Amino acid sequence: MRNGKLVAVTLISIAAVGCRESSAPGSAATATTPAPAVAAAHDDHSYSNPNEIRVRHADLDWDVLFDRRILRGSAILTLYRPPRGRATHLVLDTRDLDIQKAESSRDGSSWANAPFSLAPPDKILGSALSITLPDDATRVRISYTTRLQASGLQWLDPPQTAGKKDPFLFTQSEAIHARSWIPLQDSPQVRITYRAHVRTPKNLMAVMSANNDLKAARDGDYEFEMPQPIPSYLIALAVGDLSFAPISPRTGIWAEPPVVGKAAREFADLEAMIRAAEELFGPYRWDRYDVLVLPPSFPFGGMENPRLTFATPTVLAGDKSLVALVAHELAHSWAGNLVTNATWRDFWLNEGFTVYLERRIVEKVFGQRRAEMEAVLGLQDLEKELATLPEKDQILHVDLRGRDPDDGFTDVPYEKGALFLRHLEQTFGRATFDRFLRGYFDHFAFQSITTEDFLRYLHANLLDDHRELAARVPVEEWVEKPGIPASAPRPKSEAFERVEFEAARWLAGNAPASSLPASGWSTQEWLHFLRALPATLPREKVAELDQAFHLTDSGNAEITNQWLLMAIASGYEPAYPRLEQFLVSMGRRKFLKPLYEALVKTPEGKARALAIYRKARSTYHPIAVATVDKIVGWPG
Ligand code: BES
Ligand code: ZN
Repeated sequence: MRNGKLVAVTLISIAAVGCRESSAPGSAATATTPAPAVAAAHDDHSYSNPNEIRVRHADLDWDVLFDRRILRGSAILTLYRPPRGRATHLVLDTRDLDIQKAESSRDGSSWANAPFSLAPPDKILGSALSITLPDDATRVRISYTTRLQASGLQWLDPPQTAGKKDPFLFTQSEAIHARSWIPLQDSPQVRITYRAHVRTPKNLMAVMSANNDLKAARDGDYEFEMPQPIPSYLIALAVGDLSFAPISPRTGIWAEPPVVGKAAREFADLEAMIRAAEELFGPYRWDRYDVLVLPPSFPFGGMENPRLTFATPTVLAGDKSLVALVAHELAHSWAGNLVTNATWRDFWLNEGFTVYLERRIVEKVFGQRRAEMEAVLGLQDLEKELATLPEKDQILHVDLRGRDPDDGFTDVPYEKGALFLRHLEQTFGRATFDRFLRGYFDHFAFQSITTEDFLRYLHANLLDDHRELAARVPVEEWVEKPGIPASAPRPKSEAFERVEFEAARWLAGNAPASSLPASGWSTQEWLHFLRALPATLPREKVAELDQAFHLTDSGNAEITNQWLLMAIASGYEPAYPRLEQFLVSMGRRKFLKPLYEALVKTPEGKARALAIYRKARSTYHPIAVATVDKIVGWPG
């Protein structure tokens, strides 16, 4: 396959090419659903022209050059022209790429130079790369190198890894960062299969969101194939000193050698989670499911790269208490990866569905008590965030025109989306709703859909069959209006009510901290306890808690985050060294953002924030840097 030998196109990818115009004949939805008027939805975040010409496969070839921090190589894109497609140009998305050459080919073996032009860069979207094509071209080959500032790549020096000996590279393509390392149609409604050939330093291992050959010789020369068609934001690569620990025949953990054992113990329930998910939502359609635990600068909790979830090491609490994150990324194998948001304004279809599925998996594997606690914490997050968000950003079907889609990353698509599905579940009953969901995943499998597509399907397959019940769910309000509908469900946890009772007693001075019945509290109960207290406490009260429970020394990143927020607001100085250590030792945006925001509220806090950030900034991922720069007003 090295040099773009013709790649057999699987049936599945042909089906996916024309996805939005072809709903399966005779299926439930075609009876009542008019075909969408246009083939591809309008995507505000891509310059590409998939209605006229569509990429359906990529052959990727790179040298991973750690000394220069670049990828150098080529992408061969296989093209499909829809019957009415009359494109004379292929328009691709790029950001910060140096394009050496573009060529086109009719047969995949002889190549001719193709004239191209690169538009001036837009701050959010990058530069459109327009390639002039002969009518009969079936492939283009782009030779290029990435740049130092590629927003989708993070190059780590050895000190930033667990092993401290070797460098590390990982990619993060969602939402629109794939274009900073591959020239392509960077819109989630364009699905492609891919193959890749990756050359790395000899002692390092490369893995991708594809078939990772567990027996591959570690020789610095790796090949991959991804046979299922996926959107560009799911293309992923990591290179480092990686080892593998199996969990079951189809699941396992990739991580640096010092981390892999702990991670395999933490995620020992992976196979049980997949089985639970399959019982609920239908077969797992991606063959293997592995988790790659990254170095701590990974800016997210997790990323659902198909077959190979990328995860932060900050979920390795030692007691499996934070594994809902893996349930979440696994759930994307149905919501997101199988049925994909067509544009970023439909992001809630990915994340709201996934949070709902995540809690169903947690309920099946870890019990209802835990799932309900997590639902309550989720609603608290949502309500807190709604209090600060402008109304236009409280809408599920959000308008992101002129904005970076990363700005749509709030609790609204996640928790409001999940609450909407919970409302549907409770209204129509679990059995009916589960049948609907499974039908939805089957119907739209390997397709990218808009909010309108979902609503049409919802009406045709649930609401119209149960009109009286349907009248109780204000669907239009859920999807198009700010806030939370008054009739929304309210998750409730009895365990949390007991915790609130204890918090109130302690706060009122009626019980010393040492007498609190906290020894059996789970992480979730601790989080609820800390949140139930006022944001600011007298320092002696904070010290009393710390003496009783050693919260400053907690090894659980979620508890540490919640605790440090209280410490900052209350001016509890004994926690400051831990605060600094936490902020310089990991780069997960979920923790960086609230902690830096809390710090900059006072002049002294802001000075401390800047002092810490000066040390930490070069270790953070470009996505995290963009977030924190804004908060602290970098460069000051
Ligand atoms: N797909 C997201 C991560 C993402 C979203 C990256 C948008 C870039 C743009 C992933 O599935 C996710 O939601 N991660 C969460 C964890 C989850 C348990 C809520 C995170 O990283 O916080
Ligand atoms: Zn997610």
